[in-house]
Amino acid sequence: MNSRKILDDAQNAGFFGLGVQFHDCYRQLVLSLGREPDFVCDNAPDKWGKEFFGKRCISPAELSALGENTAVVITVRKYEDISRQLREMGLRNVFTACFDRGYDIIDSIRALEFEGMAEKPEIFESPVRGKWTLVTGASRGIGRRIAIEMAKLGSNIIAHSRTIDNTKKLVDECSALGVQAKSIAAELGNTDELERMLDDLENRFPPIDIVFNNAGISLACGPDPWRISAEDYLTHYSVNAVAPIRICYRLIPRMIKRGFGRVINISSTIQKRPAEMAYACSKAALGKFVVDLAPSLQETGVMISLVCPGYVRSDMGGPSAPHGVETVVPGALLGALLDCDVNGRWFIAQDYAGLSLPQAVAKAKFYYGLEE
Ligand SMILES: NC(=O)c1ccc[n+]([C@@H]2O[C@H](COP(=O)([O-])OP(=O)(O)OC[C@H]3O[C@@H](n4cnc5c(N)ncnc54)[C@H](OP(=O)(O)O)[C@@H]3O)[C@@H](O)[C@H]2O)c1
Repeated sequence: MNSRKILDDAQNAGFFGLGVQFHDCYRQLVLSLGREPDFVCDNAPDKWGKEFFGKRCISPAELSALGENTAVVITVRKYEDISRQLREMGLRNVFTACFDRGYDIIDSIRALEFEGMAEKPEIFESPVRGKWTLVTGASRGIGRRIAIEMAKLGSNIIAHSRTIDNTKKLVDECSALGVQAKSIAAELGNTDELERMLDDLENRFPPIDIVFNNAGISLACGPDPWRISAEDYLTHYSVNAVAPIRICYRLIPRMIKRGFGRVINISSTIQKRPAEMAYACSKAALGKFVVDLAPSLQETGVMISLVCPGYVRSDMGGPSAPHGVETVVPGALLGALLDCDVNGRWFIAQDYAGLSLPQAVAKAKFYYGLEE
């Protein structure tokens, strides 16, 4: 049956999972549902009986008593556990809200069809084998992990950092995986060095098929957000926005000529943190560039996308970040691996943590409606 009709016909319809996305997107959720919800529900007992946007939060036990003709829209990022829970409660009309642009825009509401949710086969034909991938900031943290995983998938690697020495070990590790690997160095905050590196890439390296614009800085700007200096903004903008944009300007036209290219920009969904505004604004600038450039790449074979890796325990994230660096894979690779239209898409790497590559690819296609 048409899933829209199931939602429209449901005697009771409501939202499950009263987290950040629910609060930030409530009006959009109501618009997508086409009516006010009859209930909201959450697993946290401290929410039961309280009102959210004028709706009483019921417990899962109350939800299961509502009867068969109840539709539930899950409103959290990782919907799998709640989906399983609702299925075990006997609910069949379960949907998930799919978020875009770092989760502040509802892309769609999609039916979670349980029969179709079985594990996907573990066969994965690497689409990046033999291609050349440039990873900026590859010496450590997220960039290093991305470079190794791309090498495991058979891609040749150009590893960038500020000095050749910093990527020596990585280059050896990639070579040991049976691919070709080279180093390149530049301080991305220095325009001359950056342009020199781009000249080098153009003249002395193989044509680049895939770019991960990953290198980034997040510097402490002092505890008082009102005192963030112009220099703080300029430093963050030059490394986090201007450098990746210049890399795009220099490399994408060549990709268009060759009819293939993928540019994945490592961004952040950081928000509402005034003390980190110089960093956050620089990432927002990069996001604006990507989303606005994307339509002009349609039909060229080149696609550009954004990834939020999540808050991870790299040098930048620090030791108290909740996620290990390894969790950025496979999500961070999706912009390079998907063959459908990912132009201008945001991928949230943590949504795919723990999945295999084929599962992650299948989930992304489902989530963004890219299968049809
Ligand atoms: N960690 C997180 O929780 C988190 C969350 C959201 C987004 N991100 C984003 O993810 C990306 C990678 O972060 P990470 O956590 O892996 O950072 P990291 O551990 O600090 O590594 C940064 C990488 O960038 C390079 N780099 C730093 N400053 C540079 C400069 N001025 N010029 C050229 N290269 C430079 C470093 O190379 P060398 O020092 O060896 O030269 C290193 O390879 C960044 O864009 C960051 O904004 C991270």
